Amino acid sequence: MSNGESMIKIENLSRTYTDGANKVQVLTELNLNVDRGEQLAIVGSSGSGKSTLLHLIGGLDKPTAGNVIVQGTDIHKLSAKAQGDFRNKHIGFVYQFHHLLPEFEAQDNVAMPLIIRGMKRSDAQKRANALIDKVGLSHRKTHKPSELSGGERQRIAFARALVTEPDCVLADEPTGNLDHATATHVYELMCELNREMGTTFITVTHDLELAGKMQRQLHLEDGVLSALEL
Ligand SMILES: Nc1ncnc2c1ncn2[C@@H]1O[C@H](COP(=O)(O)OP(=O)(O)O)[C@@H](O)[C@H]1O
Ligand SMILES: [Mg+2]
Repeated sequence: MSNGESMIKIENLSRTYTDGANKVQVLTELNLNVDRGEQLAIVGSSGSGKSTLLHLIGGLDKPTAGNVIVQGTDIHKLSAKAQGDFRNKHIGFVYQFHHLLPEFEAQDNVAMPLIIRGMKRSDAQKRANALIDKVGLSHRKTHKPSELSGGERQRIAFARALVTEPDCVLADEPTGNLDHATATHVYELMCELNREMGTTFITVTHDLELAGKMQRQLHLEDGVLSALEL
């Protein structure tokens, strides 16, 4: 839960795509503060710029104007290498499609970000297994993605995003591919992980009811964010 300390500060953020003579202004001088430990849902219809916004927060895309400050660091002023390092250290991503590696068991998928960082395999496995326990899938550690249900795969994707203990997880319609009951469970899991680990969660969705599970809701429409009354 939020403790009032700033985690992400977005200042006058704009993103325009130029395609030949066509200009699409997706985000217009957007401002947002997210506290450490907050759960924030951003709701918007398809094409409203939700993915664009998450990519800018995570440093996967460059703004046309404005700043994204994550824990005091203006991430778009960093070199590509420094930005990559910063992202690996502070941010976890979860997408609509799990992007798990099909040939690896759940525990290897979750351990992968640690192994890539050079952690000893046995230590990485130990940490991965602790995260898999947290997402309630102790009995699925040695299953491959094809042997898991859609909801289980997304739980493993959350475990993988959290295994490096990021300050913030950015989730782009993480339940867009799941039935409503399963999606609800995944949102409940996010809230639980937020309470237990203190990780900031920013989730985008087009589903108002799911958004209502989070602590705060904002509406993205016509390039601007506004408070959402549920
Ligand atoms: N690389 C791109 N080039 C041109 N237009 C883009 C690009 N990426 C997204 N857009 C446009 O920006 C708008 C917002 O896209 P997006 O952020 O993916 O929306 P959402 O995630 O809310 O569905 C859409 O109109 C989309 O067509
Ligand atoms: Mg999107």
